[in-house]
Amino acid sequence: MSRKKDFENIRNAVSSARVVTSKSILIEGDSLEVIKLFPDHSISLILTDPPYHATKKWNIHGDTSFKEDLDYLEWMAQFAVEWRRILKPNGSFFCFCAPSMAARLEVIFSEHFNILSQIIWTKPNDPGFDGWKQKMKKEALRQWYAHTERIIFAEPAFDGNLHRCYFGNLLREMRQKAGLTMHQLTEIIGAYGKVNHGGAVSNWEAGRNVPSLEQYEKLSKALLKTGTVESMPPYYDVIRPFMVDSSKEFTDVWDFPSVRPYKGKHPAEKPLEMLEHAIEATTYRGDIVLDCFSGSGSTSLAALKLGRLSVSIEIDPAWISHTETMLELANGIGQMKTTIADRRPIKKSRASQPTLFTESG
Ligand SMILES: C[S@@+](CC[C@H](N)C(=O)[O-])C[C@H]1O[C@@H](n2cnc3c(N)ncnc32)[C@H](O)[C@@H]1O
Repeated sequence: MSRKKDFENIRNAVSSARVVTSKSILIEGDSLEVIKLFPDHSISLILTDPPYHATKKWNIHGDTSFKEDLDYLEWMAQFAVEWRRILKPNGSFFCFCAPSMAARLEVIFSEHFNILSQIIWTKPNDPGFDGWKQKMKKEALRQWYAHTERIIFAEPAFDGNLHRCYFGNLLREMRQKAGLTMHQLTEIIGAYGKVNHGGAVSNWEAGRNVPSLEQYEKLSKALLKTGTVESMPPYYDVIRPFMVDSSKEFTDVWDFPSVRPYKGKHPAEKPLEMLEHAIEATTYRGDIVLDCFSGSGSTSLAALKLGRLSVSIEIDPAWISHTETMLELANGIGQMKTTIADRRPIKKSRASQPTLFTESG
């Protein structure tokens, strides 16, 4: 189904949307309830930043709501089920979290997702803008000061075969239906592996790498020609996009400074450049990007800037109003409700609470 049709179906499924344009949908409400209304496999990228629970920030809705870690993890487990359901088979998933929760979240997510990376976000901030790192009494520490955050990156897993990607499974099924060996198919396409002749197809089936668009077209043609495979889906519906090169960050260590304090900053606002990096690498233009904990609306702004469609959900009405204004501006409609002066840097934000875990504030 086309992305536009998916977008329309989401819009029709949710009656509480605050901003609806041809490119963005902003929904006020509890995201766990809201996403239950979304159609299956309608989202290409989930890029989301839930309350960390470990940071215990009074000014983030939900950050102090869970008495025990287990309560928080059970809440996240309910999201994982829905996220897996609404994500396209070739979609991607990023979830920000505190280092102290990352391992347990990974275990929960791995029931539904194939975990690909645990990205470490370092915050190379200038002195004076690096939270409590300089100010705190180092001698009093009982563990290494947590100056990084984690971003779990994953793709949907497939029942009974968690480590195979969607395309790998599909290719094997179609090739076997066509009665071709890996070697034969590789020869027809002319995509010889470096080590052996079945190499390319064998690597694709194992999910080690993926064919180019040109190779995929040759492959589809070869499978259809056998007469036993009736149709092959379009490239953009089966190959999970992952587009990096040596000109941008391609490792799992991301060095993006955090957002400097300014009047009106969200206490956990993530840097736009980092969100753009995540979106650009893992989506095609026109794909739908979902953020279930939208805060300042940063994910939707990054998605819009890159020509993607955005769906964002936020429970706090104040942040909904803020995002509404930002989206209207980005879409070229409405009047500026907050001025640039409101975004000027301030010396110290109220969000700076003395905590071991410095969530992007
Ligand atoms: C860590 S912050 C996200 C910050 C965001 N990434 C940004 O750059 O501004 C989490 C956000 O989730 C919101 N939130 C908490 N519980 C929610 C829920 N059940 N449904 C929707 N939003 C929720 C909070 O109000 C908060 O704004």
